[in-house]
Amino acid sequence: MDEIYERLVLLAKAGANVLHLASFEWERIQGLMIGLSSELELPLWVWSSSSGLKRRNEAELLEVEDENLGDPIEAMLTLRESKDGGILLLEDIHPFLEPQHHQVTRWVRELCRISANPRRLLVLSTPLPELPIELSKEVPTIELTLPDVEALSKVREYVTEELDCTFDSENDALLEAARGLTVMEAKLAFGQAAIELGHLGAQAVSFVIREKERVIKQSGVLEYYEPDASMVDVGGLEHLKTWLSRRGHAFGPGARRFGLDSPKGVLLLGVQGCGKSLIAKAIASSWQFPLLRLDMGKVFGGIVGQSEGNIRTALQVAQALAPCVLWIDEIEKGLAGMGSSDLSDAGTTARVVGTFLTWMQEKREPVFVTATANQIDLLPPELLRKGRFDEIFFVDLPTQTIREEILAIHLKKKERKPEEFDLEKLARLSIGFSGAELEEAIREGLFNAFAEGVELQTQHIIDAIEVTYPLSRTMREQIKSLRIWAKVRARLASHEDPEELPKDTTEDIPKLRQETRNLFVPGKKS
Ligand SMILES: Nc1ncnc2c1ncn2[C@@H]1O[C@H](COP(=O)(O)OP(=O)(O)O)[C@@H](O)[C@H]1O
Ligand SMILES: [Mg+2]
Repeated sequence: MDEIYERLVLLAKAGANVLHLASFEWERIQGLMIGLSSELELPLWVWSSSSGLKRRNEAELLEVEDENLGDPIEAMLTLRESKDGGILLLEDIHPFLEPQHHQVTRWVRELCRISANPRRLLVLSTPLPELPIELSKEVPTIELTLPDVEALSKVREYVTEELDCTFDSENDALLEAARGLTVMEAKLAFGQAAIELGHLGAQAVSFVIREKERVIKQSGVLEYYEPDASMVDVGGLEHLKTWLSRRGHAFGPGARRFGLDSPKGVLLLGVQGCGKSLIAKAIASSWQFPLLRLDMGKVFGGIVGQSEGNIRTALQVAQALAPCVLWIDEIEKGLAGMGSSDLSDAGTTARVVGTFLTWMQEKREPVFVTATANQIDLLPPELLRKGRFDEIFFVDLPTQTIREEILAIHLKKKERKPEEFDLEKLARLSIGFSGAELEEAIREGLFNAFAEGVELQTQHIIDAIEVTYPLSRTMREQIKSLRIWAKVRARLASHEDPEELPKDTTEDIPKLRQETRNLFVPGKKS
């Protein structure tokens, strides 16, 4: 917060005539403006379409000056004509920056050129950081980040005064827990705790957590995910595991002093059902970071124009909750056909990807992004470029020894002793099976054994394997070309080279529609 205020003061002192502040939290913007007007000893006007023109008084409160002033241009005239200069904040001005109100934009541009004496500063506020192109070149945008611990402690002070309760000044756990909330949301959470408990101490944390869960849920695109897997549940993927454990050490101040940046994240590409989502959960539990799942499909799900707001909010929340793992499962789902959709959705997809990539590049906070994708040809190429993710791994079908390992893992999960089964034989018969299909074979075997009223034996699993038609068989060609693609662009997650897939004797079985290549993916010949 203070950092933003300092930037504001600096820009204002450096002679900027027009500034843009982006945030949903208009009270915070008002607060900043009141501070700035005191600091620069300038009068302050605040205009909004709902309450007209207000002016700051001696007591640093906003007093109605003309409640019928509905036209932002007239407010700008007030600023222009003022003899002593001043600051004018136009709140929630975004609807007036649409092309049909061209005059407003034009007036803003006029004020960009106004003489610096007397000192006049126009401040535009909008929830999102976008400005029309003719303004974006002239007007610097400052995006408010979510409140830090210091700002939250002011909220706590305010609530304790307003609601006449006590607080535990030694206890920062409450403030730490509230990171990720806006000022309003924190006020609400602290307020509820104050009323019920009369004291803001350790017990109040649960109120904050409840509010945070609500906010994350309401964001519609983020979800707290209880990591229900750990590294020992993942068979194979040795290279990836080693790499991850090295990166895991690189969080924290020691690494910073050593000259390392916080790891950015990893992109996992490859065959479906081979443990990509599984390892995303395992990362969070082995590092003991909260796991936040971002649903790209939902980012685009809402009303047109909201997609960018959605992704920005999600990234801000993740950042405020750092350290955390931000898991973007099947990232290609939201981004499919990005190139062509430039026309159909006015470039929204491209802008969402742009926002995400810029954030990836600039973020300093320890938010470890774990993105997974099954279909490489649907991914925008800029996502694969060096420097976005720390590394791209290719997750292939498990090889013989890894299949044994995966079978053992899932047998153990079912309270069976792996050494009582012929794992070597099972693995040999299940060439081309994914981890998910191996798991399914065991489940199927269990059903059959139970129906026969006997204990599970190797033969039950063999029977299940024999009736399974693994996905790799219909996708033999795709997997082959995936492997060629991955050879030059990604690291192998496994320490063993992939096996040759057996030739299929039923090559001409009809394919399901979703298994054939989509003809409309740009840059592909059918
Ligand atoms: N390498 C593996 N080790 C152990 N289990 C696996 C492995 N790969 C897949 N599985 C099983 O299959 C399920 C689905 O795998 P998942 O990680 O969702 O695949 P995807 O690569 O498509 O994300 C997992 O929850 C797990 O039970
Ligand atoms: Mg998955």
